[in-house]
Amino acid sequence: MAESMKGLKRTARCAEITEDYIGKKVTLMGWVATVRNKGGIVFVVLRDRTGTIQIVTEDADPRWGSLKPESAVAVTGTVQKRAGAVNPNMKTGKIEVVPEELRILSVAMTPPFEVKDGIDTREDLRLKYRYLDLRRPELQRKIIMRSAVVQMIRDYLAGEGFLDIETPNLIGSTPEGARDYLVPSRVHPGSFYALPQSPQLLKQLLMCSGFDRYYQIARCFRDEDLRADRQPEFTQVDMELSFVDQDDVIAVNTGLLTYLMSRMPSVMKEYGFDPDLIAGIEACAADLAENGIGRITWQDAMDLYGSDKPDLRFGMQIRDVSDIVRGCGFGVFTGALENGGFVRGINAKGLGGLPRKKIDKLTETAKTYGAKGLAWISVQSDGAVKSSFSKFMSEEEMKNLIAAMDGEPGDLLLFAADKFRTVCAVLGALRLKVGEETGLIDRNSFRFVWVVDFPLLEWSDEENRFMAMHHPFTMPNEDDWERIDSDPGSVRALAYDIVLNGTELGGGSVRIHMDDIQEKMLEVLGFSREKAHEQFGFLLTAFKYGVPPHAGLAYGLDRMIMLFTGSDSIRDVIAFPKVKDASDLMMQAPSKVDMKQLEELSLSIRQEEE
Ligand code: AMO
Ligand code: AMP
Repeated sequence: MAESMKGLKRTARCAEITEDYIGKKVTLMGWVATVRNKGGIVFVVLRDRTGTIQIVTEDADPRWGSLKPESAVAVTGTVQKRAGAVNPNMKTGKIEVVPEELRILSVAMTPPFEVKDGIDTREDLRLKYRYLDLRRPELQRKIIMRSAVVQMIRDYLAGEGFLDIETPNLIGSTPEGARDYLVPSRVHPGSFYALPQSPQLLKQLLMCSGFDRYYQIARCFRDEDLRADRQPEFTQVDMELSFVDQDDVIAVNTGLLTYLMSRMPSVMKEYGFDPDLIAGIEACAADLAENGIGRITWQDAMDLYGSDKPDLRFGMQIRDVSDIVRGCGFGVFTGALENGGFVRGINAKGLGGLPRKKIDKLTETAKTYGAKGLAWISVQSDGAVKSSFSKFMSEEEMKNLIAAMDGEPGDLLLFAADKFRTVCAVLGALRLKVGEETGLIDRNSFRFVWVVDFPLLEWSDEENRFMAMHHPFTMPNEDDWERIDSDPGSVRALAYDIVLNGTELGGGSVRIHMDDIQEKMLEVLGFSREKAHEQFGFLLTAFKYGVPPHAGLAYGLDRMIMLFTGSDSIRDVIAFPKVKDASDLMMQAPSKVDMKQLEELSLSIRQEEE
């Protein structure tokens, strides 16, 4: 039977009770985590969002011993020093509450899984009962941390003169390159709103309006294939600044990240995050305060790490050996070079003894990234050399190649020979795999880097044309602009990404504010005048009324919190996430709607053909 809380007031949350409360009376309200009935004495652990506290009673009231876990209860009692052994794993481990009154506010049915950390319950079951899953301390702390970080971001940006301005969610299409989520209009039959893929165009218009520093914690919608770090609906910390250049945006954001890294540890300590993780953040904060965040060009990131989001927590840089192997007897290498490709390798230090089977596994990985094969040299501890291609090379050539890779006894050298993009993708992926498997990556270390000088354009084989690498409003580097017709692929953009531990946290660019450059860009991208005006006409028109030079950036907030809290998936830091097929298992969305609703929207569902 549920009881009323009439006449009771909660005086504190569970883990707010400290030794200072000893002898004091408190009223706590929360959930029953565990009940242990030791015959005559009952131990109940009470839980709320701050943590847990032990209630101990010798009260004859039988309700104590038969409390159902996860029921919501109110307990009034007196705090005392623990009579039994101190529990060092509990924040309130030195104290306990001796109750005078128990009210069962709501009885819980037996939950479908135990509400505690470290359970191996299937994720789909946890998501179906997400409200119970969210009671688990691990998720509670992550959601609380998210709230704390958002508050820090607001504080910092307000202090830097940013205005928080909302932009609408029912808009026209925005050009971020994913598929739109569409919303049918009832009033305009056959017409649709698009949900924003980002507030990109609107924030640029806010710059035209004079709100020279804008930010927004904005919900974005993209209909794309989901991954561990992607959701169809996600949150950006979005910002735009006027009368600034790339360095200004980088400076403000380096400041913001430094602020976050230095403020987070105290909150994380309060909520019981892993001390090693907190130490990692503290070390990063100290490093940022002293050295700021380094920059790497897109070209160097690709050449050295095979990725535009390099993980700098470990070395194992890629080396180009094209010049070393030119003219050697191995057709795979010389063939790639003749086709305008490259031969590059990584040195997996200490893996020289890797069994053949494991090397074959690496080859399989390489193939999933487009490699035709993986050439390898294994330098044995006695200096002997095993290799998948030694029969094609002279001893001298082999020796030179090993030397060029700094190969020493005990090393495994892995080579890819292909076009630039494939070589980068393959070696970038192998580097991460080997780094992970050999324990080179310290999970508690945090390495930020700005990736700058992205190419403006990217060739799409699929569309047989150049596409904007960032978006069509990104400013080209003026030093390269003269090559826009002769060699468009070589033009760099004033675009930048902020990368943390191999994940793209955010990205942005300086925007085009000159008519002639914008028009040329749209032409290169294959937009006709009409098409451009149909899609972005309002922006192009706005730019004719005095547009300030402007630039901005957006972070993926979910990704940011995922990395800061040491989580493997962004689902862990989103209260109600969606699963891989973009459905919400708890609300059973998406779902069918009434015919009546469809009719109002002038929609009908096409029957699948037999
Ligand atoms: P971009 O498309 O790079 O830039 O997005 C910015 C950041 O948003 C995050 N992100 C996502 N997070 C979760 N799920 C997704 N599906 C998802 N897609 C993107 C990433 C990414 O770095 N308007 C520009 C920004 C600008 O130029 O100012 C934009 O949206 O962390
Ligand atoms: P093959 O002569 O085709 O048996 O190849 C000899 C070695 O080169 C094998 O280890 C292949 O996996 C490897 N190999 C084949 N193509 C490539 C490539 N494009 N890049 C690197 N190694 C390759």
